[in-house]
Parts: sequence; C-alpha cells; structure tokens
Amino acid sequence: MKAEILKLLKATPDFVSGQQLCEGLGVSRTAVWKAIRQLEEEGYVIEAVRNKGYRLTSSPDVLTAPELKSVLTSRWLGGELTCLYETDSTNNQARRLAEEGAPEGTMVVADCQTAGKGRRGRNWASPHGAGIWMSFVLRPALAPVQASMLTLVAGMAVVSGIRQAVGLESMIKWPNDAVVRGKKICGILTEMSTEEDSIRHVVVGIGINVNTKDFPEELAPTATSLSLELGRPLKRAPVIAAVAEQFETYYGRFLEKGDMTEFMEEYNRMLANRDREVCVLDPAGTYRGTALGIDREGSLLVKKEDGSLASVISGEVSV
Ligand code: BTN
Repeated sequence: MKAEILKLLKATPDFVSGQQLCEGLGVSRTAVWKAIRQLEEEGYVIEAVRNKGYRLTSSPDVLTAPELKSVLTSRWLGGELTCLYETDSTNNQARRLAEEGAPEGTMVVADCQTAGKGRRGRNWASPHGAGIWMSFVLRPALAPVQASMLTLVAGMAVVSGIRQAVGLESMIKWPNDAVVRGKKICGILTEMSTEEDSIRHVVVGIGINVNTKDFPEELAPTATSLSLELGRPLKRAPVIAAVAEQFETYYGRFLEKGDMTEFMEEYNRMLANRDREVCVLDPAGTYRGTALGIDREGSLLVKKEDGSLASVISGEVSV
C-alpha cells in the first residue's frame, strides 16, 4: 500500500485528498494515515493540510520496495522484487532465489554488499548508500554460449538508462564496463547455471557508482561516479527504474535473434575504444591493435599491428 500511495503522490504535484487515496486504494482513512506516518518516519516529507489532503515535498534516497515499486516502469523486470539493507552479494542472493525457482525478471537490490564480486575474482566495493548494487534473474531459452552476449546487452541498457535518468553520456568499454571520460562508472558481472546444453538461469549483476565521493587510492585514477561527474548528489531509484526499463527492451529484442546482429551499429557507436589502440591481454600472449567494433557474436574485432584481424571472444582489453 505504501508503494501505491507513493505512486499517487509522485504523480500529482498538487495535493491528493485523503478521500482520493482511500477510494483509489480501497482502504480506510486510518490505514492511509498510518501509511503516511510510516513514510514520514522513513524520510519522506509529506505536507498534510486540512481540506486539501497530502502533498509529497521530498523523497529520501532509499532503496526500499515501496520506493522502487513507485518508480519502476518495467513490465516484468522487478515483478518479484527483493530489497535488502545489506547482503553478501546481490548476485549470490539472486542465485539462491533462482535455485529455489524464482521466475524470470526477479530483481534483487541492496543498499550495501559485504562481499560484492567483480569480474575475474576481484572484489567490488559496495558501501551503504553509495551506489546501485542489483541483480536480475533471467531464464532465456538460449544455448549457454549465447549467454555471454547478455552482458553486452546489459551494458547498452546501462548506458541508455543513465542517459535517460540523469542526462549523462557514458560509453562502453568492451565488453561491458560503462565509462565516462575514460573512468569506470559501472561494472557488470553475468553468472550462469547450466544443465547439459541448456541454461538453468542467468544472473546479471550491475554495479553503478552513483554517490561515491572517495574511491580507494588504487581505484581513484580509473573510477568515477554519477555525482562526481554531475556535481550533485543523485537519487538511485530513478536510475534503477530507467536501467530496468531499457534492459527489458534490449533483452526482448536480443531474444528475437539470439545474437548481436540487431545491435552491432548501436553498440559500436557506444564503444569507447572504437578505432582506438587497445592492448589485448590474451592468455596466449598480450598484443596491441586497433579495436574495430563487435561482430554479431559480440566478439571484439581487433586489427593487429601486422594487419591481421583477431576476434577477441573473452578477456581483458586495456588502453
Ligand atoms: C566488474 O566490473 O568487475 C563487475 C562488477 C559487478 C558488480 C555488481 S554489483 C551487483 C552485483 N553483485 C555483485 O556481487 N557483483 C555485481
């Protein structure tokens, strides 16, 4: 009910009468009043004026289920929503839920991760209130080899979602980091559970630095946050809503073909290292070349210094 009240209050810049709220939600005036009191305790500032009703004057930057449900515009993503104040890793939590049968579109969001995971076994710093730490459970009818492309799809959704929510232009560093002025603002970790030749579930985990002010010394030269770039603190919930809406659209289009054919042009336009010299950290040996863009399987095509073409399927590419 708190989500419904918030939705109504957010949709109306003017006062919403107590009667409108009661009738709209089919509950008593006392129930509405109690919910309003609880929202105020959570940090919402709600003006209450006799004979006029209620008006929301400010919302806190909280990632509670009522707050997220009041802003989510996605159709199925977040239909099942778990919001946690603290967890080890939203990817772990989403995996646990998936193993218990959670449906496609289940979303897990946490205010803080105590064991946030990055790619290649690295840690992902995820302090309270500083960012968006969220994971989606997907159950695509794809072959396991196709699942790595979901990471690229998520990268596009993040870049588009950030643009939609806060108007900041970010770009993709292949395969899926979102960067602003070359500094990382978002990382994506996709994990999958398979059974023979089919996918049981995929967990797409997205970490976006939103209000981070100080990064650890080793990250400071290469990391940034939305608020550092825009020079003001930001609310996280609308960014989550925009990324979820974009992900739903890109994912739906991706499933039609199951490869990147549809997205090659768009992805390559978002690619920060396109036509730039890159260093490919291949297990068989590091080499340099020029990144040309992705192919339909999502591999990065690199023109080596000797003129030959290499297709980088996985691995690390640095500038
Ligand atoms: C990377 O760039 O190394 C990937 C970072 C992925 C971080 C996100 S935060 C939400 C989800 N839960 C995790 O433990 N990791 C991902």
